[in-house]
Amino acid sequence: MNEPRRVEHQMTDKGYVPVYTTAVVEQPWSRYSATDHEVWATLFRRQRDVLVGRASDEFLASQEAMGMSPDRIPKFDDINRLLRARTGWELVGVEGLLPELTFFDHLANRRFPVTWWIRTPEQLDYLAEPDLFHDLFGHVPLLMNPVFADYMQAYGRGGVKAHSIGQDALVNLTRLYWYTVEFGLIRQADGLRIYGSGIVSSKGESIHCLESPAPNRIGFDLERIMRTRYRIDTYQKTYFVIDSYEQLIDATRPDFTPIYARLAELESFPAGSVQPGDSVYHRGTGEGWLDGGDV
Ligand code: PHE
Ligand code: FE
Repeated sequence: MNEPRRVEHQMTDKGYVPVYTTAVVEQPWSRYSATDHEVWATLFRRQRDVLVGRASDEFLASQEAMGMSPDRIPKFDDINRLLRARTGWELVGVEGLLPELTFFDHLANRRFPVTWWIRTPEQLDYLAEPDLFHDLFGHVPLLMNPVFADYMQAYGRGGVKAHSIGQDALVNLTRLYWYTVEFGLIRQADGLRIYGSGIVSSKGESIHCLESPAPNRIGFDLERIMRTRYRIDTYQKTYFVIDSYEQLIDATRPDFTPIYARLAELESFPAGSVQPGDSVYHRGTGEGWLDGGDV
């Protein structure tokens, strides 16, 4: 089901990126093709296999509680009934990436934008922009967790504020999102596990982030993360590890305004660096790293 989508391009620090219409759309569920449902089933089964023992217990249990299964692409309406009752969040359908302020406004109001269309069978392993599988399989389960759900709303409010402060503040805040919501690891009693959506929706990175000797694994530190550049074209060179979702929300409760002001005077760190003061779980060997390309 590849219908034309209205697309504009916006200049960002990553060059021109497509930004789709800001409108909220109904999920056109009855128009998904048999191929769309098969792509969902294939990716769902494959990732569940990889993620048992690798994703956080909380993520796996929430995903099951939501009733997501390989049988068919879930209906947003069905998930919304559960999610509203559990944490007051709801999903809204969108065409794709949203302008920053629109995205923040949704989160601040406990609405999570989910791309309605799914990748093609040729794109199973990689596509450059979020699709339904990344958004729904990757982001939505943890919205069932009350602490994580509050963190996401606080992030949205913080985003509206950072947007009014300026570009540097937005860069700092975006790094926090990247290294937590998208690429975060969590320490469980039985070892490191994944909770970041960018990882759980990727088979290769789900294995790499935990098992490869190449990347750094470093304890969560708010300001350290806000200063750290990241990768958009390769696996991450560094993953940051939280102890709990409570740690995440507690560490981000203070007003960031003075932090942004202070960080504006300081250098940023390369994606693969280890800094004095880091609590290092694993110092990466850097094997296979490309030079340059940090954003
Ligand atoms: N406390 C942050 C601020 O004042 C808001 C925030 C909360 C940002 C949680 C990110 C995550 O800007
Ligand atoms: Fe995402």
